[in-house]
Amino acid sequence: MTHQTIAILDYGSQYSQLIARRVREARVYCELLPWHAGADRLDHLRPVGIILSGGPSSVYDRGAPTLPDHVLARDVPVLGICYGMQLLAHELGGRVEPSPVREYGPAELTWIDTQSPLFAGLHPPMKVWMSHGDIITALPPGFVSLASTPTTEYAAMAHPERHIYGLQFHPEVAHTPNGIYLLENFLYTICGCRGDWTPANVIEDAIARIRAQVGDGRVICALSGGVDSTVAAMLIGRAVGDRLTCVFVDHGLLRLDEAQQVMQMFHRFLPVRVVKVDAQERFLRALAGVTDPEEKRRRIGHEFIRVFEETSRALGPFQFLGQGTLYPDVIESAGPGSTGHGAAAKIKTHHNVGGLPEDLQFELVEPLRTLFKDEVREVGLALGLPADVVYRQPFPGPGLAVRILGEVTPERLHTLRLADAIVREEIEGAGLGRDVWQYFAVLTPLRTVGVMGDNRTYGHVVAVRAVTSQDGMTADWAHLPHEVLARMSTRIVNEVPSVNRVVYDITSKPPGTIEWE
Ligand code: XMP
Repeated sequence: MTHQTIAILDYGSQYSQLIARRVREARVYCELLPWHAGADRLDHLRPVGIILSGGPSSVYDRGAPTLPDHVLARDVPVLGICYGMQLLAHELGGRVEPSPVREYGPAELTWIDTQSPLFAGLHPPMKVWMSHGDIITALPPGFVSLASTPTTEYAAMAHPERHIYGLQFHPEVAHTPNGIYLLENFLYTICGCRGDWTPANVIEDAIARIRAQVGDGRVICALSGGVDSTVAAMLIGRAVGDRLTCVFVDHGLLRLDEAQQVMQMFHRFLPVRVVKVDAQERFLRALAGVTDPEEKRRRIGHEFIRVFEETSRALGPFQFLGQGTLYPDVIESAGPGSTGHGAAAKIKTHHNVGGLPEDLQFELVEPLRTLFKDEVREVGLALGLPADVVYRQPFPGPGLAVRILGEVTPERLHTLRLADAIVREEIEGAGLGRDVWQYFAVLTPLRTVGVMGDNRTYGHVVAVRAVTSQDGMTADWAHLPHEVLARMSTRIVNEVPSVNRVVYDITSKPPGTIEWE
């Protein structure tokens, strides 16, 4: 390993992944481990610093997570955040007590030890985000206070000689606007990190690892046209050259002209063999008469595996399967019941048509396994992919099948494709493509009465869905300008035969989902 590593021990906070993302944004490699991960796992990482995350427990709860002895024994700097700080105070001889008022929300540091390396460059008053029930009422021996708010005397603490630090608030959240400087001070000044986790290093590192894993074997990779599988294939291609074969299965459920566009993109940016399998008819046959959303997904997944198996047999043999699995898919949870052992090797399944079952006799090559989505995008740009590919909106593996309510037929696919292309043109034409997370049309099974010219019509209803989101887990309906909605509606009704009504979906997630099926 050429880069320095920070270990983050996860005590169950909802913000643990966010800490990891912030550290990576500071160009420092980090890994998130459950707090009870064995000493051997940290030995393996050889961290230059350790961060203890927050968590929902109180140090006095029965069975509350503890601080394993090997953590401080390593003699590298430690930063405890929220529960992590309370744990340090508790284990090192300070006093932690239930706070008379649960502090949840914005607070202000009114006093800061500006001489401390942790707070270098920062001054009071400083806005921070608190979220805790317990509070430290006496510091452990050797510790000094670094900051306070009007209600929290020890909002930050340090044992300067042992390089142990604690923050009662959350530096990783956006509500602590200068929190990133605290994290950078910890990383650069206190741990001595160089900021060596750059896209160029990620690429070099990934290529070396792929070469070491694959040797002179052959790799097959399923491409979807999405950024993850494309970047994974580009890295594998750089590592093993023509011993990589990529397969793009056109299941006939893609958007207007998408199959050609995606193949052209591969041609330009992926200089390896890409085999396109035209399987539209097979998928349509498998979907004939099916209206249940889960059954559609099941049949598409099943068909995909069959097509992929046949293709790999015809082009093989291959010993390795390349996949674009991302870090959030493999992070072990620190939640109750997790053992911290063997939870990793998960492959995307039901949510991704590219997900293949483990009993295919391949060893997996997963060059994106340590990366967050933002990092994959950066690596993609550094590899020369254009922004429209790198920032392409997410598209479900089962494609338009889950946007056609009711049976999927060639006619209904055609209708939806035309309407969807208009939605995309209008949003992109208005310059809103980067602000809106996903935007598309849905074909409903409804027909309604309308009037066109002097004639009564009885046509189909198209729904427009556009949402804003950070990660797809929660979403809000996009408050699109009325002119944009008006143009979409007029164009869809005029340009798409048999559609006479357009509605806009104003449901957030939760309680709705982004897709309609
Ligand atoms: P929902 O509809 O659950 O979607 O709010 C969340 C995100 O996942 C995408 N999605 C899928 N992606 N296969 C995929 O690869 C699927 O079966 C699937 N279903 C939903 C959806 O587009 C959104 O980005």
